[in-house]
Amino acid sequence: MNYKANIRPAWVVLVLLMLFTLAFALVKTSDDTPAAKIQPETEKPLKVDLTKFKNAQENETCLKCHGQSKYTYENPESKKTVTKRMYSELVMNRDVFYVSNHREFKCTDCHSEDYATFPHAGNLRMETKANCIDCHGGDEKYAKFKFEQIEAEFQASVHSEKHSEDFTCWMCHDAHTYKINARTNEVLKETIVYDNMICLNCHGDFKNYQLLTTKLKPNLLKKHEWLPNQASHFTHVRCIECHAKNEDTLVVAHHVVSKSQAVRKCESCHSKNSILYASLYKYQVSEKIQKEGVLKGLLTGEATSIGPDKSNTLNIISLIIFGLTILVIMIHAALRIKK
Ligand code: HEC
Ligand code: HEC
Ligand code: HEC
Ligand code: HEC
Ligand code: HEC
Ligand code: HEC
Ligand code: HEC
Repeated sequence: MNYKANIRPAWVVLVLLMLFTLAFALVKTSDDTPAAKIQPETEKPLKVDLTKFKNAQENETCLKCHGQSKYTYENPESKKTVTKRMYSELVMNRDVFYVSNHREFKCTDCHSEDYATFPHAGNLRMETKANCIDCHGGDEKYAKFKFEQIEAEFQASVHSEKHSEDFTCWMCHDAHTYKINARTNEVLKETIVYDNMICLNCHGDFKNYQLLTTKLKPNLLKKHEWLPNQASHFTHVRCIECHAKNEDTLVVAHHVVSKSQAVRKCESCHSKNSILYASLYKYQVSEKIQKEGVLKGLLTGEATSIGPDKSNTLNIISLIIFGLTILVIMIHAALRIKK
């Protein structure tokens, strides 16, 4: 019996597999190459293809200064080119802006055209900015978001009651990064982290918080000491699950209530009638019901256990392991048959 001839099919399969992996890796990396046409002065290569956005070229006139940590201009008196450090709060990330809700906008749709001149005129600082409702109110196209109802809930919230004028929708919906998640993102965990970061950006940031109040920022970890596995809870549920009054008609509750009304009982979530079905999983569950019928929707997936983990990475890894197992079995069988 010739041993070499027996082992050949296995080698062929292995070499093919390696070639396939290599080709896949190459295709993956060529996806990441930045757009060549517009070459902004960035420190890191861009992930976003700026040529896809009709206003990108014009926005570069602002982003050449506001898009990185330094900017240059010609001093009109000395005629010298000066390089200065940009204030970190005024630096914007293109990759994040161009996936946000308002990615198709020009900077000057929301900001005065007068910003085109530098140094910017001092009175521009006083410019009033349009609010969400100014553009979205009473518009059929956005009816599904229920802007009017959100506005009313927000007006009744602790934030609005205690700070009225200074606390606007923009405080939670960063003008340059806000992107809808809860109704579009399939990965529940990402939505939880995204939504919680909105709150933590202020409640976890001394400087941002102190812009609004002279009261010292409470230590969140201490204030939630009664909750076991804090880290796990903060990544598996949203702050608003415990802190906002949930309404059936809204995908995301906006009525943040005072701390005395926050959910504290474990059974509120850790039970068959978990409030999470009506809040965190509301969108997923209602979509499922629409697609598969009531019974199925409630008896499978989201409805049977709290904290579904729809991790794509895990799915892919298990697929790869499954594929490899089949392959090993095939090679083994091939060798046996030859023998
Ligand atoms: C030459 C660099 C440069 C360019 C170009 C530039 N900016 Fe600025 N911008 C700055 C600097 C520096 C500041 C902070 C100092 C100040 O407020 O003048 C600033 C401040 C701002 C502020 C904050 C003002 C405040 O304090 O409230 C806004 C908003 C702004 N710029 C928008 C724009 C827009 C929109 C464009 C494009 C139309 C633009 N900028 C173009 C350098 C630039
Ligand atoms: C959808 C409207 C909108 C668009 C589009 C927009 N901005 Fe803004 N921008 C705002 C609002 C509102 C604020 C004030 C945020 C606040 O008060 O917290 C702001 C604030 C700023 C500031 C001050 C720093 C800060 O974050 O508070 C700068 C600088 C700025 N914008 C630059 C730009 C540039 C450059 C672009 C274009 C790439 C742009 N903006 C596009 C609405 C917008
Ligand atoms: C200057 C007018 C203007 C302001 C102010 C404004 N928007 Fe928009 N918004 C628009 C327009 C126009 C679109 C549609 C953009 C598109 O289709 O590319 C949009 C899109 C959206 C979308 C839909 C995204 C999608 O993919 O369906 C949401 C949600 C949204 N805005 C929320 C807000 C919120 C929240 C605020 C306030 C924090 C706000 N907008 C402020 C004009 C505005
Ligand atoms: C205390 C923080 C906070 C404030 C203030 C706030 N929002 Fe929100 N909003 C959120 C969070 C968190 C989400 C969930 C984001 C996601 O996952 O899509 C959200 C989502 C939304 C959505 C998308 C809802 C959907 O059906 O998909 C809209 C529209 C919206 N907010 C409008 C507003 C308007 C208008 C205001 C001001 C009247 C406002 N928000 C003020 C935190 C806030
Ligand atoms: C499991 C429910 C639950 C979750 C999740 C939760 N909280 Fe709380 N939180 C509470 C309760 C209950 C209190 C009241 C504690 C007290 O009065 O001693 C509280 C208190 C607070 C307070 C008031 C602190 C003070 O004493 O002034 C803030 C602010 C707060 N939480 C923010 C958050 C933020 C931000 C998140 C998300 C990262 C979050 N919470 C997640 C239940 C929760
Ligand atoms: C821009 C900053 C900012 C953001 C963003 C923000 N908050 Fe607050 N929040 C405050 C300030 C300031 C107070 C203190 C109000 C006071 O007592 O003066 C507060 C108070 C609270 C309180 C305590 C109310 C009480 O009874 O004393 C809760 C609960 C709370 N926030 C929850 C949230 C949640 C949940 C989110 C996210 C959906 C959020 N906050 C986002 C600034 C913020
Ligand atoms: C707002 C809803 C909510 C409330 C209230 C709540 N939990 Fe949880 N809890 C969750 C979710 C969601 C998970 C994650 C479940 C999973 O991993 O599948 C969790 C996980 C846990 C875990 C497991 C942690 C881990 O790391 O695996 C324990 C223990 C726990 N909770 C105890 C409690 C106790 C005790 C209380 C009351 C003091 C409480 N929970 C209140 C939603 C909640």
